[in-house]
Amino acid sequence: MTERINELIAEVEAFSSRAAGEIEDFRIRMLGRKGRVTELMEEFKTVAPEMKRTLGQKLNELKTKAQQRINDLKATAGTSTAKIPAAGDMTRPGKGAAEPTGSRHPISLVRNEIVGIFDRMGYTVAEGPEIEDDRHVFTALNFAPEHPARDMQDTFFIEKNPDVLLRTHTSSIQVRVMETQEPPIRVICPGRVFRNEAISYRAHCIFHQVEGLYIDEGVSFADLKQTLLHFAREMFGAETKIRLRPSYFPFTEPSAEMDVSCALCGGKGCPVCKGTGWLEIMGCGMVDPNVLEACGIDNKKYTGFAFGMGIERIAMLKYGVGDLRLYFENDVRFLHQFAAAL
Ligand code: PHE
Repeated sequence: MTERINELIAEVEAFSSRAAGEIEDFRIRMLGRKGRVTELMEEFKTVAPEMKRTLGQKLNELKTKAQQRINDLKATAGTSTAKIPAAGDMTRPGKGAAEPTGSRHPISLVRNEIVGIFDRMGYTVAEGPEIEDDRHVFTALNFAPEHPARDMQDTFFIEKNPDVLLRTHTSSIQVRVMETQEPPIRVICPGRVFRNEAISYRAHCIFHQVEGLYIDEGVSFADLKQTLLHFAREMFGAETKIRLRPSYFPFTEPSAEMDVSCALCGGKGCPVCKGTGWLEIMGCGMVDPNVLEACGIDNKKYTGFAFGMGIERIAMLKYGVGDLRLYFENDVRFLHQFAAAL
């Protein structure tokens, strides 16, 4: 009997747990009505009187130790996450593909693709604030004081202050780069822009742009054309053709709109290109010398080109999305269709 008592004392001393359930199980096993200590107590009644003294002491020691241990453990039970291993066998294989994963937003996918193409041509990414001042969005970009783009109808002003506004294009970032860097400059400026337009399937008051700027000695319109042709082929496929139509922007001279041949019909004419075989994707031109001057760049020494495109529009053409609003609703049924494009 002494031996069994010693074994139980060792067991009590070795027992440890922070899980309340386990501690309670241990209590029942030791001190419960049919517990091992209780059993020994019963047995004790039958031992020879000369043994009672030593055995009784031992048995009391066991009982006190067990009770003490249980009380101590109960006091700390549940205070640590260490009991979590009860959650499962950490060596079991994971659920793998059964675990649902998210997907990138199509706007991010297309932005990353555009940035990647220009990155390989040596452009670096520049960013700037969404809340801007008049100088960076308009004045430094050669907008005349009465230019209609400054109008309340296009631009969101903050607290009626005409010098605190939401940028209407990311050309504002290009101004910031020109103000602070010496040519050669080769930057790509992705970002969110804001225009006060009625929301419809083809227009939204928030959209995304990527604009680009290249300034160095001797940069010509031929450089612009070749750069954009390379971009169009990378983006829409090696067979893509481009077409430049004369246009007007205050900050470029000459200016052009660039069309790409419709990838859906191969230029033959279809509903997407409205039968023309061409899709308009961006504005571009040679940076107006007034803009260089306004940003502190020597316009006798340097020339440059700039271009800008809407990401939503490119994504619509690339993925055949017919309604711009889908990009902003964040309906997972729409977004999950791009999971494979990761
Ligand atoms: N900033 C113009 C826009 O928002 C795009 C553009 C950029 C055009 C650079 C020409 C050159 O629409």
